[in-house]
Amino acid sequence: MAGSPQHSAHHRVLYVIACGSPLARHVGRLVDSAQQDGWDVCVVTTPDGAKFVDQAALARQTGHPVRTHYKNPGDPDVLPPANAMIVCPATVNTVNKWAAGITDTLALGLLVEAQGKGIPIVAVPYTNAAMAAHPAFRAGVARLAEWGVTVLFGDHVIALHPPGTGEQHLHAFPWTMPLTALHTVSASAA
Ligand SMILES: Cc1cc2nc3c(=O)[nH]c(=O)nc-3n(C[C@H](O)[C@H](O)[C@H](O)COP(=O)(O)O)c2cc1C
Repeated sequence: MAGSPQHSAHHRVLYVIACGSPLARHVGRLVDSAQQDGWDVCVVTTPDGAKFVDQAALARQTGHPVRTHYKNPGDPDVLPPANAMIVCPATVNTVNKWAAGITDTLALGLLVEAQGKGIPIVAVPYTNAAMAAHPAFRAGVARLAEWGVTVLFGDHVIALHPPGTGEQHLHAFPWTMPLTALHTVSASAA
């Protein structure tokens, strides 16, 4: 049934990773579309991403706890291993750290490891025009793409907005685009 948790050996596991942006509030829409596509979806947030999402609602929607922090040594894994990951929204901060190989959040640790495992990853940076202008961010986006991450960024995804106006542009976000991109990358990897 669309929108209900799907735990089964038949379903491939998708990690949806949400960073600290107001767009993360609506990440349930991506979860819903992915479930309709047959994915067993798990949500991971960064510590700042956790401030924007409704963790209880996402746990109900997915049937998995929303993970934010590394487990303690010796604790069991609570999520099934991922077959694919979508980072949406990806903040400037997380893009920059990811491109540098930093793993000081669970989200970054999962991404850096997933890259090494060859797991398909789609990243959707979301920020304003001023933050996006930073050379480190531009270089990070380019490096991740060069390393095989599918980075959806630019006016064909969503136009960069002026600082302080992000809330007004949330409604225009194309939530099905990351999934469509994941289909393409998964098909070419098969
Ligand atoms: C209200 C608010 C909105 C923000 N929106 C964005 C955003 O859309 N994109 C972005 O890159 N950073 C945004 N930031 C800044 C990030 O939350 C900040 O850089 C944070 O350290 C990101 O941490 P993370 O990458 O671990 O999620 C926002 C911060 C606040 C308080």
